[in-house]
Amino acid sequence: MLYDNHGRKINYLRLAVTDRCNLRCFYCMPEEGIKFLKRQELLTYEEMERIVRVFAGLGINKVRITGGEPFVRKGLMGFLWKLQKIEGIDNLHLTTNGTVNTDTIAELKDLGIKSVNLSLDSLDPKRFFDITRRDCFEQVMATFEQLLKHEIPTKINMVVMNQQNTEDILPMIELTKDKNVSVRFLEEMPFNGAGARPQEELWNQAMIYNYLEANYPNLEKLPDPPHSTSKNYKIPGYRGSFGIIASYSRLFCGTCNRIRLTPTGVLKTCLYDGGVFNIKDLLRAGATDAQLTTALLEALGNRAKDGFEAEGKRDNNISESMASIGG
Ligand code: 5AD
Ligand code: SF4
Repeated sequence: MLYDNHGRKINYLRLAVTDRCNLRCFYCMPEEGIKFLKRQELLTYEEMERIVRVFAGLGINKVRITGGEPFVRKGLMGFLWKLQKIEGIDNLHLTTNGTVNTDTIAELKDLGIKSVNLSLDSLDPKRFFDITRRDCFEQVMATFEQLLKHEIPTKINMVVMNQQNTEDILPMIELTKDKNVSVRFLEEMPFNGAGARPQEELWNQAMIYNYLEANYPNLEKLPDPPHSTSKNYKIPGYRGSFGIIASYSRLFCGTCNRIRLTPTGVLKTCLYDGGVFNIKDLLRAGATDAQLTTALLEALGNRAKDGFEAEGKRDNNISESMASIGG
């Protein structure tokens, strides 16, 4: 079992396999994209597999594959099959923008994927285009249908943005009427490749909640699973549910069980920290599994208590793209 210096159990790794993406969501990166990494700067699949194997031996049992868009990296499915076989990893999850070939979904089912988070910020094709700057709405909706058809537990992540997609909040709730889906409304964070937007342009969790409650006074609180980052609700009689993720207000740090690896192999013990050390450099310098373990334990022994402390310790302001961290 892994514990940090604040007594929190750590069992969840978020692994970003690429910083590349075929969309250009404006809250994540500028229109021209970010300066994408060269191949040799990325962890190889073999390196990632080794890291996961070592971490699994220490107590990590849940892995989420993120990016960028994971499926933009060639050979992802083969890598997932390898991860799936690692002893101790019994929860494999994936976050995608849904622009994948829909045949992929059947294979994810065969693989035994535990759940898929689909990034979808609008149910309106025009607003989808304005946000993502790409014309992929139909494709993403087709992926969504496939996920439901194969009964893969699916969550939709919608970043709530003032004057961009707040009109999508109620249609998203209505989507939960007949569909077994969990929609999560996320606060926008400054991980956009440019820097923070003025606070008054953002909808925080309280605003999102008040808006939901005003429109659905009968909304029902659901119990939140341990380590959940969302506060969860449902409308009585609806099949699905929804939640609010206070990703910028950082209200859930006290039960945080996760660490992250960026595509270049930087270990982050908090989304908001500047990175603790580079595992790829360690591996390529010939580190043994024992040395890797020591480095991880040391990082967990110095973990910030929350996202505010982690941000305060950085030597630069947040402006990096979510794609270079892993969502
Ligand atoms: N603020 C909030 N969420 C973000 N994501 C990407 N960038 C941001 C941001 N700046 C979300 C995406 C996706 C997940 C990977 O992270 O919507 O669901
Ligand atoms: Fe791509 Fe996701 Fe960033 Fe959008 S938010 S540009 S889908 S990595």
